[in-house]
Amino acid sequence: MAISNLTMFLLSIFMASCLTASADFYRDAEISWGDGRGKILEGGRALSLSLDQYSGSGFQSRNEYLLGRFDIQLKLVPGNSAGTVTTFFLSSQGAGHDEIDFEFLGNSSGEPYTVHTNVYAQGKGDKEQQFRLWFDPTLAFHTYSIVWNSQRIIFLVDNIPLRVFNNNEAIGTPYPKSQAMRVYCSLWNADDWATQGGRVKTDWTKAPFVATYRNFNIVSSKPGDSVNNNQAWQTQALDAKGRNRLRWVQQKFMIYNYCSDTKRFPQGLPAECKSSRF
Ligand SMILES: *[C@@H]1O[C@H](CO)[C@@H](O)[C@H](O)[C@H]1NC(C)=O
Repeated sequence: MAISNLTMFLLSIFMASCLTASADFYRDAEISWGDGRGKILEGGRALSLSLDQYSGSGFQSRNEYLLGRFDIQLKLVPGNSAGTVTTFFLSSQGAGHDEIDFEFLGNSSGEPYTVHTNVYAQGKGDKEQQFRLWFDPTLAFHTYSIVWNSQRIIFLVDNIPLRVFNNNEAIGTPYPKSQAMRVYCSLWNADDWATQGGRVKTDWTKAPFVATYRNFNIVSSKPGDSVNNNQAWQTQALDAKGRNRLRWVQQKFMIYNYCSDTKRFPQGLPAECKSSRF
C-alpha cells in the first residue's frame, strides 16, 4: 500500500512535468529582435517583451506549421499603454502571404484596450473585426488561442470564441490553408495610429513598457511539434454553447466589423459577409 502510494505520487510528479514541458520558450521559440529587450523567464515557461523609445522587441516560433491550434497566455502592458501594440499572430513569408492576427492596442490609463483581429489570404487582408474585452487584460494572464483548420479559423479568449472566419473558397473568398506559418509575438510602438486614431501618444516617461507571455502551446500535425495526441482542433467547430457565447461576445463586445462597413465597400460587401453566419 505504502509503495503503491509512493508510486502514484512519483507518477503524478512525472505526469505534471510532462504537461508543463509542452510550453517551453527555449525549445519552441527564439527572440528575433529587440537587442536584449526580450527575455526568457522561469526556465522557459515565460517570456517578457519590452518597449522603450529606441525599440520594441519580438519573438517567433522556431518551426513553421500548416494548420494547428496555438495557445498563449498574455498579460498586457499595465497603466498608460497608449501608443503600444502587443501582438500574437501567425504569418507565412514572401509575396502573397497568409496571416492570422491578434493585436492588442493599448490605451490611456483606465481606458479599454482594443483587440484587433484580421485574416490575410494570398496577400489580401481587409477582414478586420475589433473587440473590447470583458476583463482588464493587464491584471492577470489570460489565454488567447487561434484554432486554424481547413474549414475555419476560430479566435478564442479564455476558450470563449470571439470570432470565426469560415473557409468560403466555394464562393471565391481566398482562405489560408496551403502556406505554412510561423508564430510571431511583438511589442512595438504605433502611436501614429494605434490609440484613439493616433491622437493619444505614447508617454515615454512611463517606459519601459512590458508585456509577459506564458504557456506557449502548439498542437499541429506537422513533425517536430509538441508531442500531443489531442487532434480535436482538426475538426473543431462551435457547438450550441459555443454559438451562444459567440453571439454574446459579438453583441456586447464587438466594436468594428468589416462586414457591416458599407461605407468602405460602396460597391457591395465582400461575398463571405452575406453567406457566413458564425
Ligand atoms: C481607448 O479609449 C477610448 C475612450 O474610451 C476608446 O474610444 C478607444 O476605442 C480605446 N482604444 C483605443 C485603442 O484607442
